[in-house]
Amino acid sequence: MILKWFDERLEIKKFKDKYLTKTFPTHPSFLLGEIALFSFITLIITGIFLGFLYEPSSKMVSLFGAMVPSAYASVVRIDLLPMGMLIRGIHHWSAMIMIAAILAHLMRIYFTSSYRKPREINWLIGLGLWSVTMLAAFTGYLLPFSNFSVTATSIAYYITKSVPWIGDWISRLLFAGDFPSSGTVPRFFFMHVMLIPILLLGLIGLHIVILVKQKHTEPLSNKNKKEAEGGRRLIGIPIWPEQGVISVSFFFFLLFLVVLIATYIPLNPIETYGPPSPGTPVMRPDWYFLIVYGFLKLVPGDLSFSILGGKITPETIGGIIFPTLTILVFALIPFLDRRKDPQNYIENPLRRPFMTSFGIGGGVFLCMLVVAGYIDVLHIVPATMTIYIIIASLAAWSISYTLLRLYNKK
Ligand code: HEM
Repeated sequence: MILKWFDERLEIKKFKDKYLTKTFPTHPSFLLGEIALFSFITLIITGIFLGFLYEPSSKMVSLFGAMVPSAYASVVRIDLLPMGMLIRGIHHWSAMIMIAAILAHLMRIYFTSSYRKPREINWLIGLGLWSVTMLAAFTGYLLPFSNFSVTATSIAYYITKSVPWIGDWISRLLFAGDFPSSGTVPRFFFMHVMLIPILLLGLIGLHIVILVKQKHTEPLSNKNKKEAEGGRRLIGIPIWPEQGVISVSFFFFLLFLVVLIATYIPLNPIETYGPPSPGTPVMRPDWYFLIVYGFLKLVPGDLSFSILGGKITPETIGGIIFPTLTILVFALIPFLDRRKDPQNYIENPLRRPFMTSFGIGGGVFLCMLVVAGYIDVLHIVPATMTIYIIIASLAAWSISYTLLRLYNKK
């Protein structure tokens, strides 16, 4: 009755017949994109809860007799609420899972060559999604306005200022003047809860629309199946109700897991670092920023020069040039490794010695940069670490290439 009422006005049945009967592949690796999507939904739901309680201001207020920034005080109060700390924990762990899922999803696409024609545009949109998600994490860092947040964000402030020619302008735009200024917290809050989620929603929407239009790549094992020969390229289950029920159940399973993690691995109470103070805490960023942090540790501190009046500093090299080049290499992949015909089936990574070994070598390089983030603890000097990184990456590349060539000769 209610459905009929809506159908007469919105033609739901027509929409259902056109889109919800489409086929979804059943291969489990196709769930990685969904994990990223579901974590994003959890982030929005928990973010709305936090948004009602958080105060985006660095104005000093009294908290238990001490004067602290009101953003900091509001997070202390959230932690004291029943379930407050748990919701903050779910928000934090969902962000971790989303970033890990994006990276795993990206690797799945890379190693199975699903980025090839006609999916180059979705590969580029995916890279945009990855970058904007990192921005979401970065802007979220500052919001509790603890000593940790302020120290971590000040590193990013100096990196932003180091952009040649326009660094001052960009840093004023992002940080609302010098950092920290009274405008910084409201500016970051606006980016974290409004600008970035809207961007993410738009990009995810575009990503999915293109995916529906182009259809998924199919598992190789489907190539010779009867249905495929009979003209239906996609083999799988309909989006509704079969895949819909699986996806909704999977969402709740993921939510259950993240609640479990947030319960048993709670966040450090915000008081661990305390409100901003002149003392700089010993800190390391979360794992997903360690690649850039590790690279920064390897760049010699006195490496500075000028190009056309723009100053290049160690911060420019580690924090701007290196991440930009990394994204550029990723962006070029579908245009260098291309083929004329559309790539409708995923490829077996074992049959692509060059690309697979390049991916393994590149992966080892990035993982070694994470290790470089710990050179102070490991007591390794930057020059030695740089040599280790080069040797490990080249060894991983050449060994995997040789083994794959031998495998393909069999
Ligand atoms: C917020 C981040 C992202 C979300 C929510 C997301 C979501 C999805 C979903 C749900 C699918 C279909 C299921 C699957 O193939 O796993 C998909 C497919 C795809 N994604 Fe993503 N994705 C994200 C990031 C990325 C990134 C970082 C890349 C690569 C740089 C990428 C490139 C692609 C491509 C090329 C496809 C089509 C795959 C095929 O046809 O086999 N995505 N994405």
